[in-house]
Amino acid sequence: MATAYFGRRYTLSASHRLHADSLSNEENRATYGKCNNPHGHGHNYVVEVLVGGEVDGETGMVVNMASLDATVQTAVLDRFDHTNLNFDPLFVNQVPTTENLTKAVFDVLKEALPAGKLEYVRVEETENNFFQYQGQ
Ligand code: NI
Repeated sequence: MATAYFGRRYTLSASHRLHADSLSNEENRATYGKCNNPHGHGHNYVVEVLVGGEVDGETGMVVNMASLDATVQTAVLDRFDHTNLNFDPLFVNQVPTTENLTKAVFDVLKEALPAGKLEYVRVEETENNFFQYQGQ
């Protein structure tokens, strides 16, 4: 079977504060620097989703783009866009670093997309930083 890939980019604006409850205030400041500031800060994340699979003989597509958009909207953007990530249940017990956000987006999308389609999620935090996760 020949696998083809399709990638799509979405924007997600959210705020966060990096703070680990298990560390002291001094350790948090040393670990996260200004990202530990009490009032948090925001990012305009770019979330890149790559899906893969056999090209459908009838439609000529790996995945229907409108369906993918609808799934990402419901599972990811409706949940995280214009929110404070620290208040999401997923981040009550883990620091909302972009590493953890990337994993969270992957996990909710893996659950929401047809089995075997999701290849990876890549999140750009700034123009110089990006994170990628492709599951186990
Ligand atoms: Ni940040």
